[in-house]
Amino acid sequence: MKDFLDLADFTPTAIRELVSLAGRLERRPEPSALPGKVLGLVFMNPSLRTLASFQAGMARLGGSSFVISPGSSWKLEYRAGVPMTGDAAEHVREAIPVLASYADALGIRAFAGGQDLENDLGEPVFSAIRGLCPVPLINMESAVNHPCQALADWKTMDDLRTPAQGGRFVLSWANHPRPLPLAVPASAAQMAAMRGMDVRILRPPGFEFPGPIMDRVKAAAATGGGSVTETARREEAMDGAHVVYAKSWGSTRAYGDAAEDQRLRAALAEWTVEEDWFGPADPGCVFMHCLPVRREVVVTSEVLEGPRSRVILQARNRMYAQMAVLYRLLAEKGD
Ligand code: CP
Repeated sequence: MKDFLDLADFTPTAIRELVSLAGRLERRPEPSALPGKVLGLVFMNPSLRTLASFQAGMARLGGSSFVISPGSSWKLEYRAGVPMTGDAAEHVREAIPVLASYADALGIRAFAGGQDLENDLGEPVFSAIRGLCPVPLINMESAVNHPCQALADWKTMDDLRTPAQGGRFVLSWANHPRPLPLAVPASAAQMAAMRGMDVRILRPPGFEFPGPIMDRVKAAAATGGGSVTETARREEAMDGAHVVYAKSWGSTRAYGDAAEDQRLRAALAEWTVEEDWFGPADPGCVFMHCLPVRREVVVTSEVLEGPRSRVILQARNRMYAQMAVLYRLLAEKGD
C-alpha cells in the first residue's frame, strides 16, 4: 500500500482486510510496530477527532507525530502561478517536500472551498500536493472525500454485526445553519455501497448528490454488490432501515450561493433527526454521525444519547482504523 486517499483505490476485499487488521490491533496491541517512525499531520482546517486519533494511534504503535495546524503555522497557497500577495506566506511546493523530509508519512486535511462545485469535485489541493510528496500520503478529509471516517464507519458496522449484503443504510441530510462540505456524506454512501448495502440517500429537493459523486457511489455498489437510490420521501427511505447516518451538506443546486442556500434550508427545520423518524425502521436500527454534531439542530439529544446512538463507537474506531492504515503503510513496506 503506497497511499490512503480514497476507498475506490481498493477492492472490497482489501478494505475488509484493513478493517480486520484494525480489529486485531484493537484486541492485540502492538506497541513496538513502528519504532522510530514519524507521522506528519498537516491540517489546513480544524479538527478534534482526526488530530487526536492519529496522534494517539501513532503513539500506540510505537511511533511519534508532529502537527501543523491553522493558526500555528504559515497559511499555505496551493494554486499554481498566482502572485502570493494575500494571507498565504508559503506554497505547498516548498512546504510538502520540506515536511516530507522530516516524516515517514504525511496526512493532509484540506476542505472544499465551497464556492465552485466543479472545482471542488476536482480535489484541487490534493491534486496540487500529490506529486510533491515522496512519502505515503493519507487523506484526512479533502474536498469530497473522507476515507478515514469511512473506514472507521465500516468497522463500526462490522462491530455491530450490521448486515452487509441486504443491510439497509439510510444516509439522511439533516438540518444545519450553514452549508457543509460533501466529503463525509459522499464517503459514507460510497463505503456502505462498497460494503454491499442497500443505500438510500434521503434529502430534500435542492440537495441532490452531484452527478460525479452519485457515479462514485454507483461504482462502489457495482464492486461491492450494493445498490443506491435517492429520495425525498422519509417513510419510504426509512422502511426496514438498519442504519440512519445523518449528515448535512450544502445545496448542490445553490452551491456557492449563500443567500439561495439559506432560503432553501430555512424551510427545512423538520429535518432534525428525532425518535419518531425510526417508526418504519428495523427495531434494531442504529443512529450514526461522524461528529461534531449540533444538538437539537442535526439531531435531538434524545436520539444522540439514546440506545440507538453509536457515535462514540464511531469516533473510537477512527483510531483503530487509522492504526491499520499506518501499519500497512509503514510496518509492511513493499506489499
Ligand atoms: N469526524 C471528523 O473528522 O471529526 P474532526 O473534524 O473533529 O476531525
